[in-house]
Amino acid sequence: MPEGVNRQWLLAKRPAGLPKEDDFELRESETPRPEHGEVLVRLEYLSLDPYMRGRMNEGKSYAPGVQIGEVMTGEGVGVVVESHSDAISVGDHVAVRSGWQEFVTAHVSATRKIDSKAAPVSTGLGVLGMPGLTAYFGTLDVLEPRPGDTFVVSAASGAVGAIVGQIAKMAGCRVIGIAGSSEKVSYIIDELGFDAAINYKTESVPERLAELCPDGIDCYFDNVGGVTTDAVLDNLATGARIAICGQIAHYNDVEQAMGPRNLRSLLVAQARMQGFLVFQFAQKHPVALARLSKWVSEGRLKYREDIVDGIENMPKAFIGLLQGANFGKLLIKV
Ligand SMILES: NC(=O)c1ccc[n+]([C@@H]2O[C@H](COP(=O)([O-])OP(=O)(O)OC[C@H]3O[C@@H](n4cnc5c(N)ncnc54)[C@H](OP(=O)(O)O)[C@@H]3O)[C@@H](O)[C@H]2O)c1
Repeated sequence: MPEGVNRQWLLAKRPAGLPKEDDFELRESETPRPEHGEVLVRLEYLSLDPYMRGRMNEGKSYAPGVQIGEVMTGEGVGVVVESHSDAISVGDHVAVRSGWQEFVTAHVSATRKIDSKAAPVSTGLGVLGMPGLTAYFGTLDVLEPRPGDTFVVSAASGAVGAIVGQIAKMAGCRVIGIAGSSEKVSYIIDELGFDAAINYKTESVPERLAELCPDGIDCYFDNVGGVTTDAVLDNLATGARIAICGQIAHYNDVEQAMGPRNLRSLLVAQARMQGFLVFQFAQKHPVALARLSKWVSEGRLKYREDIVDGIENMPKAFIGLLQGANFGKLLIKV
């Protein structure tokens, strides 16, 4: 049993707008002890995800918020250092809802075994974890892409968006990504094989979408909301499908955002707009993970990780994520 200190990040204050580093507090506590049926996990990677911003707020959402003084919520992958269950051995790797900390105890039923020989364990938080599954179900089950469709995805170089675009290419679509820097735009075209890309920080999204999609947009995977989504709605093809995955442009809003006002576009295009959560497909996750793993091992699905060293840098990296500083799936190496 490893003795010692467990560093944890707590929610210190509820942020107004973009979080600040002093909204979080680093605490040292004792390493927890596992009970019967539980394992003790030493975290190797911790995931940073946009949804965590919502959990810092008070009020109702699809999951309860973090209370002041509680460990920040999140998922990690790590190695089992003590086991009180026959199902998992010391040395096995697992993914677990760990929170922002170095050690966690969990019942084995709340862990997912990771095959450390098949792919780097960090992928269990990215392409072979929640973001990969989000991309898979949002693309295939919600948008139902058809060969020849014009498919647009926003936050296109990110953990979810980069996988979305590649799956849409496999489905035979013409894929256009929207991202926030020239490096991100080059990456999705040159390395991931998207057909075109728009830098929303330097180009006019409405104009470029009209140019690139003369017959309209059949599928839109929305990660951002705001003016980008307004521009897409003005360029829909008849029978378009829109998957509302995320609305990151609004996560730091202090006042409720206005709009969209152009919902008449849905009427004219006889379009369908549908929000979804990755968890609603939980029963199908194992099948999807097997397919995603196969695509990764065959080199058909590429992924990029942005790994920041040291748990002490977690708040800073998280604030950067909400401003587009990450390039690929953002992870903390503990
Ligand atoms: N529905 C679900 O079950 C589910 C599950 C997972 C994730 N999500 C959502 O999916 C989206 C992407 O998540 P992710 O984990 O893949 O994150 P990510 O794309 O790896 O990182 C977030 C990216 O969002 C972009 N961004 C930040 N602020 C923005 C703004 N104001 N306007 C436009 N873009 C902005 C930035 O890229 P640029 O430099 O390109 O701006 C940033 O790098 C998020 O909205 C998240 O909440 C939903």
